[in-house]
Amino acid sequence: MQQRIGLTQFLVNEQHAGRITADLRLLLEITARAVRTIAAIVSKGALADALGEAGTENVQGEVQKKLDVTANEIMLQANEWGGHLAAMASEEMETIFPVPTDSQKGNFLLLFDPLDGSSNIDVNVTIGTIFSVLRNPRAHHETPAEADFLQPGHQQAAAGYAAYGPSTLLVLTVGNGVHGFTLLRETGEFIYTHPFMTIPEETREYAINASNARFWEEPVKRYIAELQQGKTGPRGSDFNMRWIASMVADVHRVLTRGGIFMYPIDEKCRDKGGKLRLMYEANPMSMLVEQAGGAATTGRGRILDIVPERLHQRVPVILGSRKEVERVTAYHGE
Ligand code: AHG
Ligand code: MN
Ligand code: MN
Repeated sequence: MQQRIGLTQFLVNEQHAGRITADLRLLLEITARAVRTIAAIVSKGALADALGEAGTENVQGEVQKKLDVTANEIMLQANEWGGHLAAMASEEMETIFPVPTDSQKGNFLLLFDPLDGSSNIDVNVTIGTIFSVLRNPRAHHETPAEADFLQPGHQQAAAGYAAYGPSTLLVLTVGNGVHGFTLLRETGEFIYTHPFMTIPEETREYAINASNARFWEEPVKRYIAELQQGKTGPRGSDFNMRWIASMVADVHRVLTRGGIFMYPIDEKCRDKGGKLRLMYEANPMSMLVEQAGGAATTGRGRILDIVPERLHQRVPVILGSRKEVERVTAYHGE
């Protein structure tokens, strides 16, 4: 069998090639360690008392699952003493978490969705963790503020996700393609199994929560109706549909075999600006998708160009195979 390298060697190679610094390497190693800890708990399920609700709500008024809280704690604890960060922010925390140090602050800011796909925890379907890395814009002796996080997604230094499925995968980019690693549970190593993942330009598969159909805007209604008409419609081809309801799992499928993933703005979520969160869902996934040759827009503009106004801001998301994303985006302009 072909000899495969591990995450550490991959990151050392990236560092030697000048694409990442030593402290970004440390950040990614530590995040991988946290992912491994979360994966161990996820795989034990009820045996680790990991299912069910925590009995609390997060800042967005969502009921927290036990695993939302646990995964958040694991990410915080793993990263707080590494010296590589100035502050963290998470879906599960109202405001930022400056790292508890009296000495110098680190060079990076870390944002995460500790547990993505919470509705799938109790039904044993793939869930994940999403993370985004930004550069700390402040001098090392200064205390970070929430405003420091409000950088457009194209400034991300790195982005990635973990998928807790039949196998645990870590997929990341530092701006030089998308790379996937599979957890070898026996040794705890992440093995480099998916080099340079790319999204096919064209696809015959789409993902959208069709129960929202009556709330969609006209361009989305038109696009989906055309896909559903299949061979006999304007597209002249049959399209298949998948909706896992874990963004990580749906995006991982798109990265693996192409497709389009949409959580567009609709009448139900218009007040909030969308369903998915910009800073720790849409931005990291958009960076990955673009790095894999795909595209990511709100329907009206590139997601990575949005200048954030709030930490927990929501956005419409249309991402995946370039030609399909361009088509839906063009429909919005007509
Ligand atoms: P989270 O569990 O972090 O709140 O995210 C859930 C998100 C995303 O993963 C998924 O694509 C979407 O919500 C599912 O929404 P519906 O339940 O409306 O299908
Ligand atoms: Mn999520
Ligand atoms: Mn979440």
